[in-house]
Amino acid sequence: MKTYLAEDYEQMSAKAAEIIKEQLVNKPSLTLGLATGATPLGLYKKLISEYQKEQLSFHDVKTVNLDEYLGLSKNDVNSYYHFMYENFFRHININPNHTHIPNGMTEDPQQECKQYEQMIQSIGGIDLQVLGIGLNGHIGFNEPGSSFDCSTHIVQLDKSTRQANARFFPAIEDVPTEAITMGIKTIMNARQIILLASGAKKAEAVRRLMEGKVEAQFPASVLQLHPNVCIILDKDAASLLRERSTSL
Ligand code: GLP
Repeated sequence: MKTYLAEDYEQMSAKAAEIIKEQLVNKPSLTLGLATGATPLGLYKKLISEYQKEQLSFHDVKTVNLDEYLGLSKNDVNSYYHFMYENFFRHININPNHTHIPNGMTEDPQQECKQYEQMIQSIGGIDLQVLGIGLNGHIGFNEPGSSFDCSTHIVQLDKSTRQANARFFPAIEDVPTEAITMGIKTIMNARQIILLASGAKKAEAVRRLMEGKVEAQFPASVLQLHPNVCIILDKDAASLLRERSTSL
């Protein structure tokens, strides 16, 4: 596991953007795995600004998102489709047909999971997956206890995850109880992974991710087994680590 220790959120986002830019220059038709949540917003802003400065093109890029709430339509302000469109896709020159997010309104969620997984295979897998981390160690929506062997599937969201995400909804009752998520196996098949974490709230999760036991009860710990992972942290998120990380 490589680690970069950034001074703050801004620098963390810039480092992640730099890594993606490098890969995009090498392979303009990169397949990017994307995450939602507050953490990657700064990264998306940086990538948009690089595009606006004509330093980057997304013309040939394909994207696959980690997850989507079940029961929320594309137009729902809390759907991950809406999040990605508003915070990233509408600002860059990506072909909408090259962007993929599970359909939260599907009538057949099992079939949707199967098709999503097949689609990822058919486009040649994920070159670079961006991840955040949940306070309980979830990646995507793979909650504690998730098998390391699962592909895209339906999950019941943890009470703690619904509480953490309630900040975006009018009330906790409005947070969906289920979601579709790429599985841990899908994520681990990505050729490269970058995980971003910022703020003291994430420090304990980061400690368990990097220094804890590899166990299903803490899904992000599986990343210790991936051959090409880079963890990009700000100082606060790194504050509980025993080992000092590489400084930027
Ligand atoms: C959600 C998403 C995850 C994300 C996590 C952390 O549950 N499904 O992909 O990593 O939240 O979000 P935040 O970055 O807002 O802390």
